Amino acid sequence: MNTNPVQEHLVLLLGGTGRTGGRVLKQLLDRGVHVRAIVRSANRLPEGVAGHPRLTVIEADVLALSSEEMLEQVRGCDAVISCLGHTTDLKGIFGAPRELVAPMVERVCAAAVALEPTEPLKVVLMSSVSVHRSHALDPRRGSAERAFVALLRALVPPAKDNQDAADYLLEKVGSSSPFVQWAVVRCDTLVEGDVSKYALHESFVSSLAKPDDTSMANVAHFMCDLVTEPQVWGTWKGLLPVIANAAKA
Ligand SMILES: NC(=O)c1ccc[n+]([C@@H]2O[C@H](COP(=O)([O-])OP(=O)(O)OC[C@H]3O[C@@H](n4cnc5c(N)ncnc54)[C@H](OP(=O)(O)O)[C@@H]3O)[C@@H](O)[C@H]2O)c1
Repeated sequence: MNTNPVQEHLVLLLGGTGRTGGRVLKQLLDRGVHVRAIVRSANRLPEGVAGHPRLTVIEADVLALSSEEMLEQVRGCDAVISCLGHTTDLKGIFGAPRELVAPMVERVCAAAVALEPTEPLKVVLMSSVSVHRSHALDPRRGSAERAFVALLRALVPPAKDNQDAADYLLEKVGSSSPFVQWAVVRCDTLVEGDVSKYALHESFVSSLAKPDDTSMANVAHFMCDLVTEPQVWGTWKGLLPVIANAAKA
């Protein structure tokens, strides 16, 4: 009898040394998932995961991987989770590389198309409430907020990068690929804290002027659910859920 129902999962994790990515890594391992993590330095992995039997670490700058090398990293995985983010200092925000998330999402999807998996590869992208959909699909975001975000994208390269990555999934991959399915997890202000109650919405419920808190542990929990719980994936695939901590009673 199989006593470990998630043993067959192999997740490629990008950004596993980050604040949220580290939590994703720990939670995936706790759930019995096998993880292949591409990190720039294994020294920055979260405490206690080094040498874990279900963890394979590849030390590389993801931007330096060729398409063929990325294809080999995607091979055999049933899901990819990206928690990549630009370093949050002036050099990271305004210096090179100006594009990180969008090119990596494109490369992962191209690898899936080349590999032609029997089940579509699940691509889960950690994103931001600065990302919105066109054609009034995010009705809560009015013209003033759209103009503000457009300005933000023009001035702050990571904001454009996050929107480009989501647009690529929405417009280029779409919802009918036999090889790739995706979900874009839009987070508000990231905060510390343990896994707690959280709410998922199809679109924005708060304005940019009154941001919601989203604990990184909850973002990680939801992203782990997406790749391990078929019902959760069935609900959110092809969508851009907004996640926020549940209001305290
Ligand atoms: N901060 C917020 O309040 C907030 C809110 C909403 C959404 N978001 C979005 O959520 C995402 C993750 O946020 P976070 O704060 O958890 O990120 P973070 O702590 O800054 O982590 C970013 C991760 O990306 C990795 N990375 C960057 N460039 C890389 C490269 N070339 N090759 C390999 N790995 C690379 C970093 O590796 P190193 O350890 O080597 O640097 C790190 O593991 C970002 O896209 C961000 O825009 C953030």
